Amino acid sequence: MAKVCDTSDEWIRERSGIQQRYFVKEGTATSDLAVGAAKKALDDAGLTPADIDYIVVATMTPDYYFPGIGSQVQAKLGMGTVPALDIRQQCSGFVYGLQVSDALIRAGASKRLLFIGAEVHSGFMPFSPKTWDVVMGRSNDEISKEERDWNSKFRHLVVLFGDAAGAVVLGPSENKDTGVLGFALHTDGKNVESLYVPSGGFAYRPYFSEAHAKEGRYVPVMDGKTVFKTAITKMPEAVHEVCAKVGLTLNDVDLIIPHQANQRISEAVQKALKLPDDRIFNNIYKYGNTTAATIPIAYDECKKSGRIQKGNLICFVGLGAGFHWGAALMRE
Ligand code: ACO
Repeated sequence: MAKVCDTSDEWIRERSGIQQRYFVKEGTATSDLAVGAAKKALDDAGLTPADIDYIVVATMTPDYYFPGIGSQVQAKLGMGTVPALDIRQQCSGFVYGLQVSDALIRAGASKRLLFIGAEVHSGFMPFSPKTWDVVMGRSNDEISKEERDWNSKFRHLVVLFGDAAGAVVLGPSENKDTGVLGFALHTDGKNVESLYVPSGGFAYRPYFSEAHAKEGRYVPVMDGKTVFKTAITKMPEAVHEVCAKVGLTLNDVDLIIPHQANQRISEAVQKALKLPDDRIFNNIYKYGNTTAATIPIAYDECKKSGRIQKGNLICFVGLGAGFHWGAALMRE
């Protein structure tokens, strides 16, 4: 990153906690990553695509403007004509999509559902092919000052994001005390322009234009401070709210899995909730912010490492563009 814009490894580690991130090879789309994660989740559950009767996918980086990637994921997995629903809630895509999935199962619309969070953020990076060669380690050439200045305009943003996917298989709980217990979700649209992609939308005619491309309006605009302040206020509130809603308290929660936006956000949430280190999980240092994928990846890592045990109460919490935010409680 420091080779292509005015930043340093030290700044990134200190301000975001990120030590590495993954970018797909050009030509790999979000639906491809989603399919990879889906296959792993199905294997883990001992199931095949034929066992699934509903697909829900959360992403803010779909392969195409429309349709969403649900249909591509379904076709790539050879899943006949099962319904495929797309969720557009950015960094809170997992908590919102979990509520929708839970409701579909409770309503009897699905018996076994595949829920995926996937992102290929590399598509919105403001990098030229030359910059990409340097970023991916294919070239050691110096990039021009002009290119470096352009990349640096977006330095607060490009250092945060990585590409990834995570998936879960959901079905009815064994009994009413296990599985998803409740949600506290909110949206406040007043600050949409603090975090959004200002082009590629139907507010313009045409919805893509050369002028917009030249201005870099395909790159998200992010007022990092507003996102930061909102996240560290709303995420702890949502945790308390969801606990109160289901008649429990924070003391009952064994592990909080927050959306991985920035290590400092997670630390501020931990402080606000007065939690010891072993009751909140962080892995942003390995992947960066992967939007809808962070929570399912973190959940999988916690399960595989034994950090989550049968009977544990888990709280998922996130906030993202919209602003949408919320928390979900689940008994393992
Ligand atoms: N490298 C070096 N310096 C930088 C970089 C960088 N990559 N980015 C910003 N700076 C500079 C700024 O220009 C500023 O310089 P100045 O004082 O000369 O003006 C200085 O560092 C401090 O900038 P701040 O914005 O105050 O930096 P902060 O410590 O707040 O960190 C950050 C910025 C990392 C973006 C932080 O605000 C943040 O994480 N916010 C939350 C963002 C987030 O979570 N977004 C994800 C949501 S994604 C979704 O929902 C789609």
